[in-house]
Amino acid sequence: MKTSICSSIVVLLLVLLPTTISHNYADALTKSILFFEGQRSGYLPRNQRMTWRRNSALNDGKNLNADLVGGYYDAGDNIKFHFPMAFTATMLAWSAVDFGSYMSPADLRDNLIALRWGTDYLLKTVSQLPNRIFVQVGEATPDHQCWERPEDMDTPRTAYAVEAPSPASDLAGEITAALAAASIAFKRFDPIYSKILLDNALKTFEYADSHRGSYTSNPATKLAVCPFYCSVNGYEDELLWGAAWLRRATGKDSYLKYLVDNRQSFSADSNYFEFGWDNKVGGVNVLVAKEVFEKDVAVIAPYKDTAEKLMCSFFLESPGAHMSYSPGGLLYKPGSSQLQNTVALSFLLLTYANDLSKSSQQLHCGSLMFQPDSLRRLAKRQVDYILGDNPINMSYMIGYGYRYPRQIHHRGASSPSVMTHPTAIKCLEGWNVFASPNPDPNILVGAVIGGPDIDDKFIGGRTNASETEPTTYINAPFVGLLAYFKANPILDDSAFLRFSKKN
Ligand SMILES: *[C@@H]1O[C@H](CO)[C@@H](O)[C@H](O)[C@H]1NC(C)=O
Ligand SMILES: *[C@@H]1O[C@H](CO)[C@@H](O)[C@H](O)[C@H]1NC(C)=O
Repeated sequence: MKTSICSSIVVLLLVLLPTTISHNYADALTKSILFFEGQRSGYLPRNQRMTWRRNSALNDGKNLNADLVGGYYDAGDNIKFHFPMAFTATMLAWSAVDFGSYMSPADLRDNLIALRWGTDYLLKTVSQLPNRIFVQVGEATPDHQCWERPEDMDTPRTAYAVEAPSPASDLAGEITAALAAASIAFKRFDPIYSKILLDNALKTFEYADSHRGSYTSNPATKLAVCPFYCSVNGYEDELLWGAAWLRRATGKDSYLKYLVDNRQSFSADSNYFEFGWDNKVGGVNVLVAKEVFEKDVAVIAPYKDTAEKLMCSFFLESPGAHMSYSPGGLLYKPGSSQLQNTVALSFLLLTYANDLSKSSQQLHCGSLMFQPDSLRRLAKRQVDYILGDNPINMSYMIGYGYRYPRQIHHRGASSPSVMTHPTAIKCLEGWNVFASPNPDPNILVGAVIGGPDIDDKFIGGRTNASETEPTTYINAPFVGLLAYFKANPILDDSAFLRFSKKN
């Protein structure tokens, strides 16, 4: 009896080995974190590994007499949009909090360094509260009229602020979430920094909640931020999101009460199939559900009920509304930089699966029941698709695998490095670089780009921003996903997934 079980295990392993080791998640994880060095603004440290980058934007904040040097360029351009930057930091922090234990010490250290590059800057954005909060540096229209390396920038570096008592609940709510989540991530490693982050999160939430409204309700801010990072989904979700992270960071009942009192009026039970830099509703429900799993807190159980509805929507056989998948199995939502949706939603799937496991529960969808591994397989399928298991065998992570796009919509990567070409490449001159058929001279290692369309097609090319532009908020949740699958190779079973394009 014993021998036959042993031999069948051996056979099983032999059959499954090729699929379980098809991806080098450890390599992808290290690269996904390295990417953030390519997006750095300000003074670069001596140990900068992405050496084709140099210092840039060293006078940011000057027009408002503030120091706003540092932070991240959000994508392939050279603007610092604080709203998506804060979401990026929140997700880098959540990756470290939930998945840091699966990382090597070096990867966890680098994850925290990438996070701190963001939070050090976010602390500057709230340094003049309660009087004002900084919103953005750089003017999008002039910036987009040029194709310039960050190191050469000669476009206006105007800094924008919202002054009290004008509202900025969405921006301040997201910065609250970032600082509070980061305070948890740093607690063990740097308690002093952790405390600074938490104190600033509390101060920022105070502003967010006492001046309710969107940061774009102010015409000057709206002109600067829109149409790029308007808060289309409103500001209420960020208030809940900020409160949920403060509850997690402090354990205080006042935030629990806030979550209970405002759940309905802030619409935590509508529009919950989304999660990204604009809409936090999916994330709020999953984050709050965590506490229901851990401590069975009944007053917030409705958040878990909504999270469950989101989870069921990933399974096409479950009743109710569904997510869409491409024929090749990619979780797909219409819009630009599509993989941002795939990655952020997959992060929620995996987090929820782990919470189910820890409390020995399953996901119930009508009369159907799903084990946590079913959710994990679905999340893993998305990760594998992005890394190259797709109908065109394309890795959408730059510098990973043998076949990845060689022309991306990124000013720094597509232009020669300052190291090899120190002479400035001026605004309009840069469009020759943009139009060049040559591959990018600098590999923005680890960048996950916008990705294919709903038919798994990918034309590629530097000109197609929607397909080939990387963004910091695609990579940030990917860090957590990769860490988990690096440490927990779960068995692949492609037959288990049935995909249909429309539903
Ligand atoms: C993708 O790779 C598989 C397995 O190596 C191969 O069978 C298939 O033809 C490739 N498809 C394309 C479009 O290159
Ligand atoms: C970018 O590629 C998509 C297909 O993924 C295509 O539908 C779109 O028209 C392209 N856009 C541009 C500006 O080339």
